[in-house]
Amino acid sequence: MSKVLVTGCAGFIGSHLSQTLLIKGYQVVGIDNFDPFYKREVKEANLNEFKNHPSFTFHELDLCDETTVREKLSTKFDCIVHLAAKAGVRPSIDNPQHYIDNNISASRILVDLMRDTGSKKMVYASSSSVYGNMSSTPWNEAKDVSMPISPYAFTKKSCELLNHTYHHLYKLDFINLRLFTVFGPRQRPDLAINKFTRLLYKQKPIPMFGDGSTARDYTFVHDTVSGIIKAIEYLKNNDGVFENINLGNNTPVKLIDLIHAIAEVSGQKLEIEQLPMQPGDVNITCADISKAQRLLGYAPTTPLKEGLRAFVDWYLKK
Ligand SMILES: NC(=O)c1ccc[n+]([C@@H]2O[C@H](COP(=O)([O-])OP(=O)(O)OC[C@H]3O[C@@H](n4cnc5c(N)ncnc54)[C@H](O)[C@@H]3O)[C@@H](O)[C@H]2O)c1
Repeated sequence: MSKVLVTGCAGFIGSHLSQTLLIKGYQVVGIDNFDPFYKREVKEANLNEFKNHPSFTFHELDLCDETTVREKLSTKFDCIVHLAAKAGVRPSIDNPQHYIDNNISASRILVDLMRDTGSKKMVYASSSSVYGNMSSTPWNEAKDVSMPISPYAFTKKSCELLNHTYHHLYKLDFINLRLFTVFGPRQRPDLAINKFTRLLYKQKPIPMFGDGSTARDYTFVHDTVSGIIKAIEYLKNNDGVFENINLGNNTPVKLIDLIHAIAEVSGQKLEIEQLPMQPGDVNITCADISKAQRLLGYAPTTPLKEGLRAFVDWYLKK
């Protein structure tokens, strides 16, 4: 049975990943510090879905606390999936140091732990934001990603570089998965679909930044999780790996179309309030997913409206 460490296991993607790994028969050790970026109760509810599984162990642990990390996580893992991070582009502009601490410094503590404990493989959650504001799409992994436009993006690119350094120096294997806007049940409350759904059910106007023509390559969380598990399996079967791989959907959706789709799926009356574009936001994201298809056999299958229905069903039940 493979033993996997999932950092950020109480978060949106980490909770889905942990739950799916447990169903598939993996042994999972999960850690999370319940970072106050959003409410602890939300993360505890995520964790409640699987925390009593006999193959799951949880540690409430801050990855920035190196001494405790070394006390609690000294065993060898077959793979580490490193999802814990301060997420969110806009708040990173207000507090870059928090992002440097929780994303870059915490990652350094984790890769040093790998070096010293014999855990050799990591899937790292990077982000489409590393591509900056590139106008020519779709984005493939060969593009120059040295021009981030937010502190969040800068931390994600820095961690990709950190991972390459440890791959070179210590023969550790990494797949940096560049995730493209993930959505679905348990989505973070700061993200657009969650925010817009909340406002629609409160009969409040939806703030639309810009003219609605900006577009995102939305990926349903079950598709993201299947890609992460394929990356774990790829690392299990191959040595000497260092790859950056897009995990998106290759189908950008305009903001205005997204807003109308959520209103349709929720059956709520729509009012839009147009606001200026936000600093740090990019115009479009679109993943070229051919590398993920070729190397991992990744194939996202969930259409936008089906994913939105799953989100709204979860939102109404919680
Ligand atoms: N959701 C997306 O659309 C998206 C897109 C691209 C990349 N990502 C990346 O995927 C990962 C997961 O994103 P998410 O949307 O599930 O976010 P999330 O905020 O729901 O989950 C991250 C979890 O990490 C925990 N955490 C933060 N700092 C920590 C620390 N120092 N020690 C221990 N735990 C800590 C948080 O408490 C949280 O539960 C993040 O690295 C994010 O940057 C997400």
